[in-house]
Amino acid sequence: MSRLVVVSNRVTLPAKGGAAPAGGLAVALQAALQERGGIWMGWSGKSSGSREPEPLAQQQHGNITYALTDLTKTDVEEYYEGFANRVLWPICHYRLDLAEYGRKEMAGYFRVNRFFAHRLAPLLQEDDVIWVHDYHLIPLAAELRQMGFKNKIGFFLHIPWPPADVLFTMPVHEEIMRGLSHYDLVGFQTDHDLSNFGGGLVREGIGEALGDGRFTSYGRTFRGGYYGIGIETAAFADFARKAASNIMVRKARQSIEGRDLIIGVDRLDYSKGITQRIDAFEQFVKANPGYHNKVTYLQITPKSRSEVPEYEAMQRTVAEQAGRVNGAMGTVDWVPIRYINRSIGRPVLAGLYRLAKIGLVTPLRDGMNLVAKEYVAAQDPEDPGVLVLSRFAGAARELRGALLVNPYDIEGTANAIARGLSMSLEERQERWRGMMDHLLERDVMRWCDDFLKDLQA
Ligand code: UDP
Ligand code: G6P
Repeated sequence: MSRLVVVSNRVTLPAKGGAAPAGGLAVALQAALQERGGIWMGWSGKSSGSREPEPLAQQQHGNITYALTDLTKTDVEEYYEGFANRVLWPICHYRLDLAEYGRKEMAGYFRVNRFFAHRLAPLLQEDDVIWVHDYHLIPLAAELRQMGFKNKIGFFLHIPWPPADVLFTMPVHEEIMRGLSHYDLVGFQTDHDLSNFGGGLVREGIGEALGDGRFTSYGRTFRGGYYGIGIETAAFADFARKAASNIMVRKARQSIEGRDLIIGVDRLDYSKGITQRIDAFEQFVKANPGYHNKVTYLQITPKSRSEVPEYEAMQRTVAEQAGRVNGAMGTVDWVPIRYINRSIGRPVLAGLYRLAKIGLVTPLRDGMNLVAKEYVAAQDPEDPGVLVLSRFAGAARELRGALLVNPYDIEGTANAIARGLSMSLEERQERWRGMMDHLLERDVMRWCDDFLKDLQA
């Protein structure tokens, strides 16, 4: 078996009892690599002022060699905050209104990709299989090809891929499409994303679909496919079973005092639909006075990308909104919304999911959404909760036992909360069983194996 070299912007070193990684990519890659071993190269998360970066820091943990590079402050501003998170992220999440184009940031993005290629090159061996992840590093294969590397190189996009009408508003869409053609396999989360990609390529006349998942563009032939990312289902279910004795979970249970718990867990990101969700919760309580003082909505929302202005602004608006609803609806002995801005470790999260009667996962757009899958995996088979899931999350294409909602439809989401809380045990069990079987079969290792098998075919 060839050695696996994974490259992603975000890399998570094994937690030393400290902060949990927030973000699906880091969680999934950690699980996949742990089993298989290999090299994981990416950004150290640190920025240095100097142009001459420190040598690539390598650390061995188990069978994973982590190779981390610092970036300069300018790199971080232009490549990560600027182009990746103020152009590609909003565009891929269908938010044309939030994309902020700047020539400097675009140039920084391509420059840092070249830099990554040069940092990676000395580590590579002839028969290594290289697997690049996510929107930060689309041009990486083109850079490696230019340096003469002939290895198999695959790319997986963790976020959605938009239709051509959205993507082509981006000034450098040609370079991005060209960048993808240098991979041997381009993987998306869902059939929907793949068809947006293939449809855009053909419609805009930059390539052809050859059938059987093969495409040709810019003189190169490559494959495209969809590989919905999974979780470590069995291990997560085990966390949840054991979490009842965890002190934090016990405190949470005591403090809700028999009320029904609704849980939301998201990075503080505008794609997650948190403001619409709070509106829907408020609407639900207004429309169902019987639930006054009988329900608690726990929203766990670690801060994310705070240097990016749209994210900074959101920190204020969501906190104000939660405060306003609590002020208007709360009583001396009831705080309807508990809003937490810290990251919580996954073993504790598992216990909190299991306590919750409703998992409220309502992104406006999401590549997959692992929280939806974790919520299902954490449930007690004897008395499972109900997943209320946005139809615009990739997970909705798999988790058919969820109550699917349109997160823009506040009343519809409020009604789904009410329906979930009053659903019969029999219906809850039936819906849960189907989803859990799917998650056990299609876990994160299966995702990894399927992708790598196709890449090496
Ligand atoms: N997560 C966590 N602690 C938190 C919040 C989130 O460990 O306080 C994890 C969560 O369990 C999940 C991941 O971060 O594994 C979020 O992945 P998801 O696909 O839902 O969203 P993303 O953040 O990647 O957009
Ligand atoms: C999403 C992206 C990942 C990213 C994560 C956290 O899951 O797909 O690539 O790592 O969010 O965001 P951050 O900017 O902190 O890496």
